[in-house]
Amino acid sequence: MAYTLEDEFGDIIGKARRGQNLSQSEIATAAGITEAELARMEQYTLKPTETQVFRLAEVLNLDGAKLLDIATEQWEPNPPQQVSDSSLEVVTISAPVGGWPVNAYLLICKATDNAAIVDTAAHPDLILEQLDAHNVNPAAILLTHAHSDHTDGLPKLQTATGCETYIHRNEPKPRSENRLREVAHGDALTVGELTVNVVNTPGHTPGGCSFITQGVAFVGDAIFAGSVGGPNISYQDEIDSVRDNLLSLPDAVRLFPGHGPSTTVGEEKLHNPFF
Ligand SMILES: [Fe+2]
Repeated sequence: MAYTLEDEFGDIIGKARRGQNLSQSEIATAAGITEAELARMEQYTLKPTETQVFRLAEVLNLDGAKLLDIATEQWEPNPPQQVSDSSLEVVTISAPVGGWPVNAYLLICKATDNAAIVDTAAHPDLILEQLDAHNVNPAAILLTHAHSDHTDGLPKLQTATGCETYIHRNEPKPRSENRLREVAHGDALTVGELTVNVVNTPGHTPGGCSFITQGVAFVGDAIFAGSVGGPNISYQDEIDSVRDNLLSLPDAVRLFPGHGPSTTVGEEKLHNPFF
């Protein structure tokens, strides 16, 4: 089976290194490897030895045993991608943007057949098809962050659905047909009979946020299965907010990221080398 994680060993050490503003030469020296070897590891062309994984983990403040499991492809989260219980269903829409798969989701309230669209994955037509296929009423558009691979196509979705669009007040604003509704940490939104809570998960972007309801959380690029999104704004904010606002949820809560497979709080606590 193909290994499905969004990030490989090379991505993880590169994100941890850049996030902590460390140069390749600093890390290579501290880990006892050459700069050229580190560069090749970050480019996936050199596989590390077990000893090198543990040395790199130590200098990058990562968990060595968890990092080794990913470097040797020993762990990936259990399915399912699709989640359904008596009150809600999550539909995953995964589509390539610039050659890389991006996830959007429908959060469906089964009692009312109302659905929130979470991110656009730059493929509004696919989302409209899924709304039709599930015979549900679009009730809101929720944006985890403004990066174009997650928000392109927003005007088309807005026009087609008439939905209000919600985005964190600290986030840059994408192109939109109408005025965006700003949300903040602690806000609660309604989708049919579901209450959706907003929590801060910045660091990848200034106002990244996650949307949480009964056993599921839509986390954008804050955390991936076994990794985190690129810490473009603040590594510390990203690590702290994911730990405090997502990994503090019950272990069974399923996390739906902007890239890669869904996972759970419990699996990430056991397997994500950043925590
Ligand atoms: Fe992003």
